[in-house]
Formats: sequence, structure tokens, C-alpha cells
Amino acid sequence: MAEYADKFDGKSYPLAWNTSYAKMGTQWRGRFDVSGYTEFLDLSGNVLELGSGDGNTACALVPHCGNLYCIDIAKTSFMTLGMKDPRFHRAVADARILPFRTGSFSAVISRHVLTHAVPGDDIAMMKETARVLATGGMVLIEVFSPGDMRSGKGKEIFPRTYLREEGLVWRFYLGQELDALVKEAGLSVRHFQILSRKVRHDGEIYPRESIIMMASKA
Ligand SMILES: C[S@@+](CC[C@H](N)C(=O)[O-])C[C@H]1O[C@@H](n2cnc3c(N)ncnc32)[C@H](O)[C@@H]1O
Repeated sequence: MAEYADKFDGKSYPLAWNTSYAKMGTQWRGRFDVSGYTEFLDLSGNVLELGSGDGNTACALVPHCGNLYCIDIAKTSFMTLGMKDPRFHRAVADARILPFRTGSFSAVISRHVLTHAVPGDDIAMMKETARVLATGGMVLIEVFSPGDMRSGKGKEIFPRTYLREEGLVWRFYLGQELDALVKEAGLSVRHFQILSRKVRHDGEIYPRESIIMMASKA
């Protein structure tokens, strides 16, 4: 077994993101097009983005939001250019234990955050999401699925869940896994979509694949 995998700490592993942003700064591209989802999301009030990273999604969301709250476990993520936008409320916080009151948000956005959580932490995040959502509120989730070009890289520490040398976890969800998770957290699935596309790097074509799910709190 690789040495780095032996040192895996099931609680503190997301802090590897601190080193990632300190080294690489802004790193996420492919701006999120929220327009296809605004019909179903109430963005006019308090909106929470989990794992806001370098602001790739937050910058697309903020023109549509009443109050956008961005949380990320990596304090270095808030040093990136995108996160300096004065319109965001920001906090260093863990999506597994959110520092917000029950029912505070009309919408929660969680793009590529569950993708970096091991089993057990996935349901903790989903239950916290369900708790902070107001009744009638909606969460939008995006996760990678096994058809993505990044699947399989690193040491497999749980099914379809890989630990990379820099200490980051990458997980690739089956549709039914995400469906079960959301239902276990007490939410109702309202939308399920598989996004498949091809990207070109250095003349080669690679597959990208993710799942977008929307779920509401009754
Ligand atoms: C791939 S980035 C996604 C950034 C952004 N959501 C986007 O769509 O561009 C994943 C982010 O989730 C954050 N993250 C991972 N685990 C977390 C946790 N337990 N609580 C809060 N943030 C977490 C990481 O620090 C990182 O910034």
C-alpha cells in the first residue's frame, strides 16, 4: 500500500485543500450556467454555497442572489482572486457541521464538494444541508460520476473513492448512491441529470461526466 494512503486521517483529510489553494491559487474553470436552474431555486433570500473554493461557482451565482454565503474548509481558498468579491459573505467552516441555524437558507448549492468526501462524511454533509434548508427550500448538488476522465487515479480507499498523493479525496458516484444519500437525509429528489461532455487537452479528447441533482425539503 502506498505510504500516503497509510497516513490517511478520516477526520482531517479535507484540510489538504489548504495546501492545494496555497500552492495553486485559482484552479477551477468551466463557469456554472445557473440560468437553467433558476426557475426551481429561490435565490432571492439567503443562499448558501458549500465548498466555495476559488469562487468559480459563487461568481456565477452572486448576480442572482439576495445574500450569498460562501463557506469552505480551506481558509487559503479565500485568498484567491474570485473570493475577494465584496458581495459574498464568507466563512471558514466544515460542511459536515455547519455553523448556521436550522431553516436559514432558501437554497443551498453544493458543486463538487460531496465528490471530495468519504462515505460517512457524505451523509453528514447531506443531513446538515437538509437541516439548514428552510421548508420548501432546494439544494442543487453536482458530483462526478465514474465515466469522468479523473476516475481511477490514486489509491482506492473506498469503492470508486480515490486518495491522491497530495492528500485529496476524489469520489465518483453512481446515480443510485446519490439518490439514496439524498433520500436518507430526508429530502425529495426533484431533478436528476447526467452531464457528459468531451474536452481536449494537448490534442487528445477526454470524457467529463457528472450528475446534477436537485432535491427539496418538504
Ligand atoms: C473542487 S472544489 C469546488 C469549488 C466550487 N464549489 C466550484 O464549483 O468551483 C471543492 C471545494 O470543497 C471544499 N471542501 C472539501 N471538503 C469540505 C468540507 N468538509 N467542508 C467545507 N468545504 C469543503 C474544498 O476546500 C474545495 O474548495
